Amino acid sequence: MPGAIYAEGLVKTFGDVRALDGVDLDVPEGTVLGLLGPNGAGKTTAVRCLTTLLRPDSGKAVVAGIDVLKQPNEVRRSIGLSGQFAAVDEYLTGRENLQMVGQLYQMRSKAAKARAGELLEQFHLADAADRPTKTYSGGMRRRLDLAAALVVSPPVMFMDEPTTGLDPRNRQELWEVIKQLVAGGTTLLLTTQYLEEADHLAHDIAVVDHGRVIARGTSDQLKARTGGERVEVVVHEREHMGTAAEVLGGFGKGSTTVEEHTRKLTVPVTGGAKLLAEVIRELDTRGIEIDDIGLRRPTLDDVFLSLTGHVAEAGRNGPAADAGREDKDKEKKEAAK
Ligand SMILES: Nc1ncnc2c1ncn2[C@@H]1O[C@H](COP(=O)(O)OP(=O)(O)OP(=O)(O)O)[C@@H](O)[C@H]1O
Ligand SMILES: [Mg+2]
Repeated sequence: MPGAIYAEGLVKTFGDVRALDGVDLDVPEGTVLGLLGPNGAGKTTAVRCLTTLLRPDSGKAVVAGIDVLKQPNEVRRSIGLSGQFAAVDEYLTGRENLQMVGQLYQMRSKAAKARAGELLEQFHLADAADRPTKTYSGGMRRRLDLAAALVVSPPVMFMDEPTTGLDPRNRQELWEVIKQLVAGGTTLLLTTQYLEEADHLAHDIAVVDHGRVIARGTSDQLKARTGGERVEVVVHEREHMGTAAEVLGGFGKGSTTVEEHTRKLTVPVTGGAKLLAEVIRELDTRGIEIDDIGLRRPTLDDVFLSLTGHVAEAGRNGPAADAGREDKDKEKKEAAK
């Protein structure tokens, strides 16, 4: 029996771009699927197809037991969606926005008011509840948008990058809200650029690239597949990074990742502590001073990098993150050297 979210061979093209190139998904009831993938992989397109906002060119999708293509209206009544870009009415207050959603779902006005109040508290928006949302910060809008998706508790929820742009405290709090939802039986498909988020919340992970699911499994299964350990070195002097990359390259079983801003280099290895000692000696011989060095197991970031060739671009909204992005581009160039 297919799960609460099921897709088979979903294809969606935009002109020459095959945004979805035959996506299969199956999310068992009451579980969380994390959809990971680099920018442009097709995550939002998949969410839009599954939530009836976009009609796929071909393929099949069933959500909450209802055929998405044949009965889109029925599907809409059974799902909640929080999109990648917050969709709140700028001129209404936070409270009015939430009450309006309740009314759209035909809640009684008293119940809608009570629910709005609860959510405003839960998402730390009570103080700003009666201000027009155009005065809200980005993080506040994001929180309001998520609260709006939770006004009614639909059996199946979709969240497209729910915590992008939230600060760490708000992110953690949202994770708690999501965990409670799932504990209550909600099925969730979530896309995220924060691999830690997928690690934390998702029972199962699907990695998407170029419109296809290229890997699937639990976080542990994917890490085990990536295999080996990682040597991680922080060099003291920025100008030594090139030489250090050369040294690590000589010991590595894969390409070296270079993080300019933190002066950190990472390379997959096999050989454990003995190899680590050799790396330290070689760095020393070359006169490279190090601040830190260690051996660690692969993270979900390593999995992502080895599968897609991309570094995950967490929190890329906003000027500070854009600066980080330039660093990432540099990193890739460095890594390619
Ligand atoms: N309405 C559209 N018209 C034309 N091309 C589109 C449209 N929507 C998406 N695309 C293209 O389809 C591909 C997949 O886009 P999509 O938004 O699904 O990626 P994504 O995985 O959500 O990326 P991101 O991580 O940046 O949110 C991209 O190449 C994108 O440019
Ligand atoms: Mg997207």
